[in-house]
Amino acid sequence: MTTTFTMDLNTGLTQALSDGTHDYLYGAGRIAQVPLTPDTGAPDTLEYFLGALAWLTWRALNGMLSLGDVLVYFLGFQSGLNFLQGLLKALAGLYEDNLFLSNLYRFLDLQPAIQTPPNPLPVPVPLKSGLHFDEVSFSYPGRNHPALQDINIRIAPGEVIALVGENGSGKTTLVKLLCRLYDPTQGAIKADGIDLRRFDPAHWRRQVGITFQDFARYAMSVRENIWLGNPETAPDLEKVARAAERAGADEFIRDLPQGYETMLGHWFFQGQELSGGEWQKIALARNFWREANILVLDEPTSALDAIAEEKLFHAFRSVLAGRTGILISHRFSTVQMADCIYVLDGGKIIENGAHADLLAKNGQYARLYHSQAQYYQQA
Ligand SMILES: Nc1ncnc2c1ncn2[C@@H]1O[C@H](COP(=O)(O)OP(=O)(O)OP(=O)(O)O)[C@@H](O)[C@H]1O
Ligand SMILES: [Mg+2]
Repeated sequence: MTTTFTMDLNTGLTQALSDGTHDYLYGAGRIAQVPLTPDTGAPDTLEYFLGALAWLTWRALNGMLSLGDVLVYFLGFQSGLNFLQGLLKALAGLYEDNLFLSNLYRFLDLQPAIQTPPNPLPVPVPLKSGLHFDEVSFSYPGRNHPALQDINIRIAPGEVIALVGENGSGKTTLVKLLCRLYDPTQGAIKADGIDLRRFDPAHWRRQVGITFQDFARYAMSVRENIWLGNPETAPDLEKVARAAERAGADEFIRDLPQGYETMLGHWFFQGQELSGGEWQKIALARNFWREANILVLDEPTSALDAIAEEKLFHAFRSVLAGRTGILISHRFSTVQMADCIYVLDGGKIIENGAHADLLAKNGQYARLYHSQAQYYQQA
């Protein structure tokens, strides 16, 4: 690059480089104590510039150039330098953008690991005998330790189960297997006795509505945020409002400047930012809008206040309306309404049963429950 610069700019500098005064100019750059690039050992653009300037000054002092000539050369150098810097910046930008694009193209070329089988079976709707995790084990790719081990769970249609356990015990992983983001490494998950791998994954996923812990917040209107739960249906306002009502979101939505048409997030002009709990209610409404056969809520109340949590679970059974529910929560107030609670520890089920039975058993569940209850009692 530096060579291009010296050749393009002016004859004086080119001459200086070709007639052997280069060393002198390079030295002048060093005398000016401009930060140089010592590791390459080659003079950079700035050094040439300063060297040329020194050479011009020397010639002017010796009467070989007029002050006007020096000024013209100087301005020429400067604009050349600016141009070169701009060019380099643009090239660096192009290179950087290209890195992002190559990532995007690599992503677009990815083939899904979970494929549709040659003759997929129809998904049973509604479920008759329910869901069955049959000796399911799973390890994440590249991990030695299994995230889930020998999981056996039976969920009858219309039943609500809860999963509890410490962080990293495998609760979310179990749900990821259920919606076939991954397939079990061993064992099988069955719907009405049929292995989920026999279904078209897209058809199966339509039957599962999940609100994940890290749910999405779309910079769109409230109505669109809810409608995205199932974009195949029309965003009918009355239906959207019903889903919002079930999630306890209708009250604050009505108070927003344009109600259901209010833009959310701060990306757009007049977009309204919501609180964590309000966003969570929108995510719940999106799930309820989906009207899937199996409803999964992973930490659905983590950002909700105590009253909203109570309202949600009071209404939960009517929201389910006979469908199957899976709840994941660290809050025992939420968990105890489930028909059966499974306690996970290090990827294994260590206890299961109804709240009262598990308390009477005085095992891990009772320990976790009492350690949480103690804070309320002390307060
Ligand atoms: N994408 C992933 N790749 C590799 N390992 C993962 C991945 N996601 C989770 N794990 C590991 O799997 C184990 C179970 O994680 P999981 O997210 O299922 O726990 P969890 O019970 O939902 O925890 P939390 O209560 O914090 O939500 C953890 O050891 C975790 O580190
Ligand atoms: Mg989790």
